[in-house]
Amino acid sequence: MDEIQRLINNLREIPAMPNVVMQAINLVKDPNASVKDLADIISYDQSLSAKVLTLVNSAYYGFSQQITSINRALALIGMAKAKNLIITIAMRPMFTKQSDKELWKHSIRVAVGCEYFAKHKNIMNSDEAFVLGFMHDVGKMIFNMKDPMFYENIKERVEAGERPIDLENEYFGCNHTQTGIILAKKWQLPVVISNVMKYHHEPSESSMVMACSLVNAVDLLVQDNYKLEDIDLEISNTLGIDFSSSKAEVFRDEILEEADSLFERLST
Ligand SMILES: [Fe+2]
Ligand SMILES: [Fe+2]
Repeated sequence: MDEIQRLINNLREIPAMPNVVMQAINLVKDPNASVKDLADIISYDQSLSAKVLTLVNSAYYGFSQQITSINRALALIGMAKAKNLIITIAMRPMFTKQSDKELWKHSIRVAVGCEYFAKHKNIMNSDEAFVLGFMHDVGKMIFNMKDPMFYENIKERVEAGERPIDLENEYFGCNHTQTGIILAKKWQLPVVISNVMKYHHEPSESSMVMACSLVNAVDLLVQDNYKLEDIDLEISNTLGIDFSSSKAEVFRDEILEEADSLFERLST
């Protein structure tokens, strides 16, 4: 713990979690939340509102009329998608450095993948799954702040089969699950999110095995150098998903297509 505390203390500034993200995360839990509740939350944030309107009016959605009201924009894309979009857009300013861009892309991939399986395999609430996937590696932000070239520099070793988490331990004396917990506390994130941040590399140690197993499997599935045998059989069994067959490649293609399209739309 000393090592982590020292690392955090040496950083000048830890980013604040945007208020709107916390409010949107809380709404994810509320089955009675309406589009109006969500619209109320973002209407106080002009740049966020403008970004949502620009996205909804983009060719991707293909609406024939110009949409100028946030209420209508959110109603058209649907409550579930709208919540996820808002959390993703509102978090984006936290990933400003070049070194955070890869993390941002990876977070979107895991978010979309978790939502995908949660929905298709009935594992858990799919909105919640999206948020868990999106936040799981946020602890890496600390290492990007400490050394913006770190993940770039270890790329070759990772491609050769080493795990980033082991290399973090080697270089910093702690890893992103530990720094993640510190951020989760600082931001007062819900327990399920901090639990996933802490245990997504060791799901069997968590009291929330399904959520952590889901993130663990998707995290591996969306890696550029993913191989069929990467996902632990025990995790596959827990989730009831067969990752060992060519079906996994189909899941993967669908997830990457949707995630990378979302990434592109949010990057412009
Ligand atoms: Fe991780
Ligand atoms: Fe990850």
